Amino acid sequence: MSTPAITVPMIRAAKRRHGHHPLTMVTAYDEPSARLVDAAGVEMLLVGDSVANTVLGHADTLHVDTAVLAHHTAAVATAHPHALIVADLPWMSYHVSTEEAVRNAATLVRAGAGAVKLEGGANRAAVISAIVAAEIPVCGHLGLTPQSMLAMGGFKVQAKTLDAAAQLLADAKSIEAAGCFAVVLEGIPDLVAQQVTDALEIPTIGIGAGAGTDGQVLVFHDLLGLGNRPPAKFVRRYADVGAVITEAITNFVGDVRSGAFPSDAETYHATGELKASFEG
Ligand code: KIV
Repeated sequence: MSTPAITVPMIRAAKRRHGHHPLTMVTAYDEPSARLVDAAGVEMLLVGDSVANTVLGHADTLHVDTAVLAHHTAAVATAHPHALIVADLPWMSYHVSTEEAVRNAATLVRAGAGAVKLEGGANRAAVISAIVAAEIPVCGHLGLTPQSMLAMGGFKVQAKTLDAAAQLLADAKSIEAAGCFAVVLEGIPDLVAQQVTDALEIPTIGIGAGAGTDGQVLVFHDLLGLGNRPPAKFVRRYADVGAVITEAITNFVGDVRSGAFPSDAETYHATGELKASFEG
């Protein structure tokens, strides 16, 4: 892996209250998406376990393992992005033992990640410390943590009560103390996200967490209109690329059926002796 232009210390220092502009992170799962996202100037490419839903057709993120994430991380790394590559540690890759977690994090680094992301609060602090002790930077993820969807009873906004908000703040402080360089806050009320952002020295990156965080992350397919489900309330669709793709392919089908494709200019012609032998 070549050293990216955007490094973990740069991200760690990027608090808005210290004058930094809001950070941007977008998911990427392969070389073309990584190249296109990187060209837009984001600071971080997330090889998310959302690859399970967005690319592989699963209903949740519980159906991908470290090998799948390493495969997609390696593809993203071939784009040699300027942005920092953050790869998700999938469900069950850091839940069984600390040793397994460190080895799985190392697998993602060897595939091309510059940092890993994992979900959970104080209950994951020991695992975060162990990965950080192995010199692998860790981004946290709190709030609506999709890997907990069975325990949460679905994909539901979190931290909606005073107690739950206080617990989330305590979790955020705990994973910061464990060594996280940033934390994703997903699906929580804006005031709770603001409180966490104010309380931490590391940057918060929101998704469905309002405008007060230190940065924002969106999923590539949601942002571009490539998803096959109605987008969540927090998604802004910046394009309808799905419609553009279907229109282009419909035009191809029509041209093939009408004989308009391929044209003469799109054809390799036989020349010389070969041509003559066919004509004779
Ligand atoms: O996997 C993913 O895409 C994520 C984002 C929703 C932050 O974790």
